[in-house]
Amino acid sequence: MERSLTMELVRVTEAAALASARWMGRGMKDEADEAATTAMRTVFDTVPMQGTVVIGEGEMDEAPMLYIGEDLGMGGGPELDVAVDPLEGTNIVAKGTWNALSVIAVAEKGNLLHAPDMYMDKIAVGPAAVGRVDIDAPVKDNLKAVAHALNRDVTDLVAVILDRDRHSKIVEDVREAGARIKLISDGDVAAAINTAFDDTGVDILFGSGGAPEGVIAAVALKCLGGELQGRLLPQTQEEYDRCLRMGVTNPSQVLRMEDLVRGDDCIFAATGVTDGELLRGVRFKGSMGTTQSIVMRAKSGTVRFINADHRLEKKPNMVIKS
Ligand code: FBP
Repeated sequence: MERSLTMELVRVTEAAALASARWMGRGMKDEADEAATTAMRTVFDTVPMQGTVVIGEGEMDEAPMLYIGEDLGMGGGPELDVAVDPLEGTNIVAKGTWNALSVIAVAEKGNLLHAPDMYMDKIAVGPAAVGRVDIDAPVKDNLKAVAHALNRDVTDLVAVILDRDRHSKIVEDVREAGARIKLISDGDVAAAINTAFDDTGVDILFGSGGAPEGVIAAVALKCLGGELQGRLLPQTQEEYDRCLRMGVTNPSQVLRMEDLVRGDDCIFAATGVTDGELLRGVRFKGSMGTTQSIVMRAKSGTVRFINADHRLEKKPNMVIKS
């Protein structure tokens, strides 16, 4: 993959973030998602790449754009698998709370797991705890292993968990082990990434969320040297069959980093839509919009934070609704 693709992909997430941030706090999650999707699709047309959406806004018959199988880019360069989440955290934007992102993850063709749209059980940690956790181990054992890896006490750790009834046993187990908890309303991609950064104040992610989000977070953690383990959780025979159709021959297997994103190269780009622990959300001032993004590449290990001021009147290809 061309190194310059990293900057091109940030332009795409910036556009989607700028478009969806206009909907912050308006209680209209579908409109926010549509704005992000339209902007992302428009700017992708200007990127020199031959991509195919493998994780997107749905199947062709349910999503007008960024559907699975859609071709992306102007052509040229290697063929790429592209995972997009134009707005990760639609409810977050609707309410104006924390950690909504616009996100893209890219790898060479055939290297991203084509995750079906269903739940995935997940555990994620940053680089210092790689190889120490096991999705099948008891919560207390994983916490002890992370504490040992970080040279801290279990009572010093913070586990980040989606605030859902289905996670009540995990929450109980973490409390019993003595660690602290950050319950989040949405946005487990940002939560997984945050485990790789000391300053964010979270050390481990537990619990189930979207499987597509699991693959996207795995790409980010691969770039950061962290780890995510997952297991698909098909709830019905139809979901089970969908796993098989999408090439997951054993839906109950533990999915490790190499199953989620193969090979030694991938790129991850995200722009903050609302404020988060890692990225600032979009700010508007007159015709100016400011964004903060992270872009990283596994092969080089480079992690860049990019602050940008956008003169919106000069960007006709950016779809901004007000
Ligand atoms: P959307 O942006 O599609 O609304 O997803 C937000 C999210 O919180 C993800 O981060 C997470 O993986 C998933 O939803 C959890 O699903 P559920 O809300 O059904 O528990």
